[in-house]
This record gives sequence, structure tokens and C-alpha cells, in this order.
Amino acid sequence: MTSSLRILMLSAEMVPFTKIGGPADVVGALPKALRRLGHDVRVAMPGYRSVRPEQFGMETIIESLAVPFKHGSETVAIRETTVAGVPVYFVDAPRHFGRENMVGYVDDGDRFILFCRAALEMCRKLGWSPDVIHAHEWHTAIVPNWLHTLYRHDPHFSTTASVFTIHNMAYQGIFGHRILEVAGLADQEFDIVTPDGNKDDAVDLLGRGIAYADVVTTVSETYAEEILKPEFGEGLENMLQMRENRLEGVLNGIDAEAMNPATDIYITQQYDADRLELRAANKRALQEQANLRVDPSIPLIGFVSRLIRPKGCDLLAETFDHIMGLGAQIVIIGTGDPHYHEVFGQAAGRHEHMAAVQFTFGADWTQPLYAGADMYLMPSRFEPCGLNQMIAMRYGAIPIVRATGGLIDTVAEFDPMRETGTGFVFNEFDKWAFFGTVARAVQAYRFRDEWHELMRRAMRTDHSWRASAERYVDIYERALAWHISDVDLHHPSDFDTSLPGLQEMP
Ligand code: GLC
Repeated sequence: MTSSLRILMLSAEMVPFTKIGGPADVVGALPKALRRLGHDVRVAMPGYRSVRPEQFGMETIIESLAVPFKHGSETVAIRETTVAGVPVYFVDAPRHFGRENMVGYVDDGDRFILFCRAALEMCRKLGWSPDVIHAHEWHTAIVPNWLHTLYRHDPHFSTTASVFTIHNMAYQGIFGHRILEVAGLADQEFDIVTPDGNKDDAVDLLGRGIAYADVVTTVSETYAEEILKPEFGEGLENMLQMRENRLEGVLNGIDAEAMNPATDIYITQQYDADRLELRAANKRALQEQANLRVDPSIPLIGFVSRLIRPKGCDLLAETFDHIMGLGAQIVIIGTGDPHYHEVFGQAAGRHEHMAAVQFTFGADWTQPLYAGADMYLMPSRFEPCGLNQMIAMRYGAIPIVRATGGLIDTVAEFDPMRETGTGFVFNEFDKWAFFGTVARAVQAYRFRDEWHELMRRAMRTDHSWRASAERYVDIYERALAWHISDVDLHHPSDFDTSLPGLQEMP
């Protein structure tokens, strides 16, 4: 029986306040699941300009908090609101977070260091001492480093363990050496070789999170294995190998309450696995909304994605006309690289009433697509976890995915003989492998009874957070035990570049 833990989650973003990428969904849902398990979990994130205090009923709980920053200090305020019982703190520092966009500034490194430091100082001021700090992505990766250095002998944090979650190795937060001064760590320096081999004047924040966290996690078991290899490790595979015994994959869940076809207010007709016949109204509505030929017998394929290369947009672009040749319809939703806006815009133009593209992520398009499409594409080059394939399954849109990362761990290949599986999987990142699998799905779609069974199986698969939240609790407890036993493990010299693994880097 576990006792109640005090957990502080740190993130650059969180649904419902902001949403840039998948981590926002994770930090939106995991704390709620942890709270249901009886833990005192709280979240801190920056108080961006777009997050309006009056809209979310925030209260200022600390008017003025002095936070050590660069060579002096910066004054911030802390606001608070609650989401489903979870307290969420916002670090209000207008000069840093009151800008037009949330991220994308030259001083992003400084901004997130200020945020993290303010979150720690806030805990002290509130007299709340977390057992575990769970930090997400490079934006908060400095915290495990601090807990083993600056704050190691601080009575308020000396027993606080850290868990660091990698959501994507492709984003590492690499800055000049000056960032260590900003973070108050200039005399704690050690080099982590960065992916381009530049170690003279570069600090890799993601690498520091990996080096110092008591436990490092990533968002699926397969990705946890993949990132140990150069193909996926983005230059940090040696560092990850050194910490392999502290690295774990925990699959993300989806917010099963928010993503529920039985209650979704954005769709024409609510339905569930027991009332599958009702779903047809949503397919018709999607065909109308996208200005496609309205015909229930045409297989309708959906794709909701950032329109960028890692998501496999090139595979889709190169096979687009062939897929149309199968007599299927395609609806694409998302924004991204202008190149793909153009390519998909033209492709849709060539296939009037059969293909459509909308450059948006609005729920008025995404939810009708999940509820109306027969199939859902995710041909990613790599995919740490992926959430959309799980949402698609819950709505009965059958996923067609590449065998990588979390896609392998969540989608099982359809086997018509055994009547098992929840989707279609292809291995090689190759346009014909992809096309062949789409063709197989279109073929299978003709067998109505089998297809409906496939839909029901996909819809009934449990992708809720509960099981993963329980695994995190287990990890938090191990992190605490480890933290106590190796308080002195992470001396900077442990990670000196003279270590063989690091020196061999290109
Ligand atoms: C990143 C990954 C994605 C994952 C998400 C949430 O966006 O690319 O695969 O689902 O983080 O962890």
C-alpha cells in the first residue's frame, strides 16, 4: 500500500490552458489520474499572455517572489487555479512570458530557467516540500541538475527526488555556455557532447535532465529501447546507455473523459461501441462538411497531424493519387510546413469531392474527423508515443500506422482469421509498404461484419491513464529510494568527457 505522495509536475504547457504539442495533453491528464489514486499532485507552468487569469478564475497567491536569476534576481508573482481538484500554479513574469507567442524566442533558455527556479522558490514560500518533482521536456530539464547540486543541501529539497520525462529526443534545448550562469551552475560545469559534436560552447539541457534525474522515463516502452540506438538517440544515445538502468518507458494514456464519442459535443451524433449504427450519421456529416461526395460505402481515410516530414507527410504526398485510385476519400487536417500546405492543397484540388484539406487544429474539425472517418493514418518516421492513434481507436476510426515507438505498443495488427487486432501496421518507412497497407485496409473494409468487429475491438481497448498513472507512482517511489541512496552519485566529474562513452562521440 503506497502512502500519499506530494508531487510537483513542471511543464512548459498543459491542456486546457495551452496546447502546442502532445506533452500538453499528458500534463493535462496524468495529474488528474494521480489525484484519483490519492496523491497530492500540483502543476506549475509559465503564465503566458494567452492564458487569461479571469478566464480561468486564477487568484494571486504570491504577489512578489524574488527568484535568483543570472547574477541577481528577478521578481515574479504566482497565480493559482484548480483543474478537477489539481492545483495549477502560474509563474507570472510579464517581461518573459507576457509576449505574443509562448515559445520561439532567442532567450527561451533563460525564460524556462527562470520559470523552473521560480517554481522551486514558490514551494519554499508555500511551505510545501514535494517528495518528487516530475519534470517534462528540455524546458524543465535543469531541475534534476539543481536538485543534485544547488539544492542538494537545502533542507526544503534535500529529500526531493526527480523524475524526468523525455517526450521527443528531437528537441534538446541546446544553448551557449552562458546558460549555466543564468542557472547559477557556472561552477558546476561539465560537458555533454551535443548531437553535432560541438562541446566547446554548448549546453544540452535535455542531456542534463537525463544525466541527473533519479529516474528518466519516456513515453513508450519501444521508444525507450529505440533511443539507445544512434538512429533514434539524436546524439545522446551514449548518455542514455550510461543511464539505462534508470530509464523506463511508460505509455501515455488519453483523457478518456474528454475524448469520448458518447459525450463529445463537437460531433453530430453521439455513439459508443454498443450503438455503432449511430456512427453513420457522423460519416455523412464529415463528407458534407468537407464537401466530399456523400456515400456511406466509400472508405473515408483521415489524417490529423502537424504537416511535417517526421510525421510521414512525404509518404502520403507520394502515394496520394494511388490511394485515390483505390476509390477512397481522404480528409487531411493540420498545419505545418508550407511545402505540405501546397502539396496537399494541390492534391485535394485534383480530386474534387474525393479529397479535402483544412489547415487547422480546431475541435470543430478534428472531432468530426475522428467520429466520421473509417480509417486513420499515422505513417510516422518515429513516434515516441503518439496520442491520435489512441483517440482514433476510441472513436472507431481504424489506425494505419508505421511500426515505430508507441505506435507498435498501442496498435495490434488485424488478423481476420483469429479475429484479433485493432489496426494495420507496416514496417519499412517506404511509400509502397505504406500504400500496400492502405490497400489492405481498403480491401478489408468491404467485409462489413469483420470490419464492425474490428471497430468494436479498437473502441473497447483501454487507453485511459489509470494503468500508466499506477506505474508512475511506482517509479516515484523508486526515485525516492534511489535519491536517498545516491545523493552523492552525481558529482560533475562523473560525467566528465573523459568517460569513454562520451569521448567516442563524433
Ligand atoms: C511528443 C511526441 C509524441 C508523444 C507526445 C506526448 O509530441 O512526438 O509521440 O505522444 O510527445 O508524450
